[in-house]
Amino acid sequence: MRILVIGRGGREHAIVWALKRSEKVKHIFCAPGNAGTALLAENVDIGEMEFDRLVQFAQDNAVDLVVVGPDDPLAAGIVDAFEAAGVPVYGPRKNAAEIEGSKIFMKNLLRKYGIPTAKYETFTDYESALAYLRSQPVPIVIKADGLAAGKGVTVCFTAEEAERALRETMVEKSFGAAGDKVVIEEYLEGQEMSILSFVDGETVRPMVPAQDHKPVFDGDKGPNTGGMGTYSPLPHIPQSVIDDAIENIIKPTARAMVAEGRPFRGVLFAGLMVTKDGPKTIEFNARFGDPETQVVLPRLKTDLVDIILASINGRLHDIDISWSDEAAVCVVLASEGYPGAYAKGLPIEGLEQTGDVLVFHAGTARSDGKVVTSGGRVLGVVGLGADIAQARERAYAAAERIRFQGKHFRTDIAMKALQAQTVKG
Ligand code: AMP
Ligand code: GLY
Repeated sequence: MRILVIGRGGREHAIVWALKRSEKVKHIFCAPGNAGTALLAENVDIGEMEFDRLVQFAQDNAVDLVVVGPDDPLAAGIVDAFEAAGVPVYGPRKNAAEIEGSKIFMKNLLRKYGIPTAKYETFTDYESALAYLRSQPVPIVIKADGLAAGKGVTVCFTAEEAERALRETMVEKSFGAAGDKVVIEEYLEGQEMSILSFVDGETVRPMVPAQDHKPVFDGDKGPNTGGMGTYSPLPHIPQSVIDDAIENIIKPTARAMVAEGRPFRGVLFAGLMVTKDGPKTIEFNARFGDPETQVVLPRLKTDLVDIILASINGRLHDIDISWSDEAAVCVVLASEGYPGAYAKGLPIEGLEQTGDVLVFHAGTARSDGKVVTSGGRVLGVVGLGADIAQARERAYAAAERIRFQGKHFRTDIAMKALQAQTVKG
């Protein structure tokens, strides 16, 4: 098979890596890709949002399957565009991707179907939003409605912080048009957990769970990022809690999407908070997570191509999916200044792979034969091991070996698993 993967991040490098393990795969293209995907695939210089050029490329190059990584093209209908051209494509259509593209759509769906989530109100008008905000206790959470590269959410611990966040989102438009509408939502306390599932209409096949670390600094300090590190499994979260989330949140959501005439086909990613009242939904994404994918796909034993083809053909229920017991820890190496402004083009040294470690590239490019930084999140260093402690040691040893000017990473990825008491179900 000839496969075209769309995207340029660590997630896409991990997807390419997983597809490449399949004997069915002859050639992979990645558009536009990065310096890491170039090691396994042929990078194609077409952007994620250039649908006409991507479709044309797939047709001209006898592509048998397209796999879409990022949220923006999914929300804009890239799957519909490939389907209209008769090119097999894996991902949700535009009307199903709205579960991520609009937080208001998602919250209203969960409310309508009685699926556990934080209490909330939505606003299009700043004055009413402010009046409501002043009537609520802190902590409280302010969310821009639309896509904001994972950064449109502010968790506010004081009333001043909350009013500032609302003003920045709705008046100063820090997240652009995504902030024309906002969700103001109850703060949920607990451990976060990401469960990605292969979904094909009503059939839900969950992957192994992962935990992300959103804030940029140790101890969950500083602004939120796309994600600074992940690990899987979550030894401190009992299987009963994971099953509760699958049965009472993820499966009912897939059924709700079918009932709404928007069947979801692709990877449905549930961002959950394990509260003392059980798991509740923080968000849904319509795609593989980044950097969740970097720790989940290395644990997948089944051929990813078989799973994707089964989904596309409506046979996901027929396939057995198995996972390794191995642990994986991903430490993201970021550019100094991220998630704010940062320099690009800095040379990266020490990238040679060693056993038990996978280095997935995110913001990297090739320049004069050298690998250089080209984004905020530069690399995802994944350690594999018998348990979290061993995987973590391997990831950090490799993270230290890799060098570029201004390299920043959190030193406490996966510590919650090592320190935490088991969360009660
Ligand atoms: P989101 O983009 O919706 O995943 O939100 C980004 C991050 O903000 C989440 O990963 C949580 O850490 C935090 N967050 C979002 N909503 C809530 C909430 N209702 N209560 C507590 N934290 C939240
Ligand atoms: N790591 C969170 C996300 O992919 O949105």
